[in-house]
Amino acid sequence: MFRDVLKPTATASRCRCRCRCSHRAPDHARPFTPPNAIKVPPSPGLKKQALLIQGMSQTLKSVSSNLLERFIDRAYRFSEQPSLNEGNFRPVNEIDEAVLLNNLDGEVPGDFPEGVYIRNGPNPLNPTQTIADSIFGSTSYMYYEGHGMLHAVYFNKSSLGEWKISYRNKYVNSDTFQLERKKNQVAFVPSADGQPYATLVAFLLNILRFGKAVKDSANTNIFEHAGRAFAITENHLPYEININNLNTLGLYNINGAWNQPFTSHPKKIHGSGELVIMGTNTEKPHYVLGVISSDGERLVHKADLKFEEGKLIHDIGVTKRFIENDMNGKSRIGVMPRFGDAESIIWFDVENHCSYHLFNCFEDGNEVVIRGCRLLGSIIPSGRHRVDKSKWYGRAFLQPDKDSEDFDPSLDGNLFSRPYEWRLNLENGSVHEGYITCEKVAMDFPVINDKFIGIQNKYGYAQVADSLATSKTGSYYRCKEIFRGASSKKYFASESSIWFPWELFLHK
Ligand SMILES: [Fe+2]
Repeated sequence: MFRDVLKPTATASRCRCRCRCSHRAPDHARPFTPPNAIKVPPSPGLKKQALLIQGMSQTLKSVSSNLLERFIDRAYRFSEQPSLNEGNFRPVNEIDEAVLLNNLDGEVPGDFPEGVYIRNGPNPLNPTQTIADSIFGSTSYMYYEGHGMLHAVYFNKSSLGEWKISYRNKYVNSDTFQLERKKNQVAFVPSADGQPYATLVAFLLNILRFGKAVKDSANTNIFEHAGRAFAITENHLPYEININNLNTLGLYNINGAWNQPFTSHPKKIHGSGELVIMGTNTEKPHYVLGVISSDGERLVHKADLKFEEGKLIHDIGVTKRFIENDMNGKSRIGVMPRFGDAESIIWFDVENHCSYHLFNCFEDGNEVVIRGCRLLGSIIPSGRHRVDKSKWYGRAFLQPDKDSEDFDPSLDGNLFSRPYEWRLNLENGSVHEGYITCEKVAMDFPVINDKFIGIQNKYGYAQVADSLATSKTGSYYRCKEIFRGASSKKYFASESSIWFPWELFLHK
């Protein structure tokens, strides 16, 4: 789309859009104090002892951290994973200042609103160090593991009505990004993919050194709430972003009320403006639901769903009255009243599947309708597939040929994702489900116009996957196509597009 980058343009000194973003101080500037806390002043002797213990603890931590760092420097050899340095996975450099864009292909429509388009995505800070080899075995990054980089395109009009379009990008300045940038090399040992023992050791080393197994990547999504923008990955709290300069303002914990991981795909409730969130964790509580007030200042509801074990649950759907949880693994879908609890969930058994993203959910008479992209297996290889990943990629991402002599239902087409619909009848408990598009095209990363979240929508959009390219590397290649479908079930593919799925467009 953008041919030439011309000259730097000044950064706006204050937010000029109507969204009121960046006008407030980050929440972490206001420490949370329990309302009934009783403060007892320590005696001078106790204070001295406490300081001594604190000092010893810091020294021990520092010594052990230094020893671990030295151990990693000697025991590990880091190298490049070529597939993460090519095609649409190739990292880009940070641009210091916004640049004015000219010579664009096409024209901006006259009625297009002024505002900013932002996308978020992984951009490895140390792209030549994405594989770690040691005596424990080999581990490596998966394609979603780079630090979050925000890309913003600003659409403004001059006083003469001419479009001024500028671009800037910046890393999300998360705590762990700062750590790796300061060190100027990988600090967290890659742990998402690799040989089982090596993965376990990598997790352990990261926890011992940094108190967490993986980085705060902040690379999965950017969402808006109460006029504020947040970058997020589901293993940590969101980082608030100033959309004018992409500076990171700080962590968002709803004034101290939320200390769980925070979903990458929160959902705004139609009408009330409240935000539904969830936190999934390997430790108890494994699954907590929350509802944030429309002004973003209060947690108005919180429910521990009392799951027996931790599951990867990546997306959540809302309707006017309900919240849906797609239960990865057991293939059940739970429907819960917005302000319900673990006891008020209605469970529906559905065909085995693995869904990462939903288009939308809405109520239709006695039914709750869910539309999402469905595949049959996890994108994270396990068991025998981990041993021979290239074979697994080569067959799982391609359209399955069920007439083939060596067709293996546990392997072929398991990651060939397609739009799907579930209809859950709340009155009689029945389920009707099925694919809603043709069988030939793989799609994922669905979006809709977010004004229709939770109510019946007409159009949905999804990325068309380049299945062949993806099957060669296991990394998700996107075709330059966007798929638009109408709820009439007459679907068609549209022209080439640069639409990105995890985006935020804030109008003036
Ligand atoms: Fe996602």
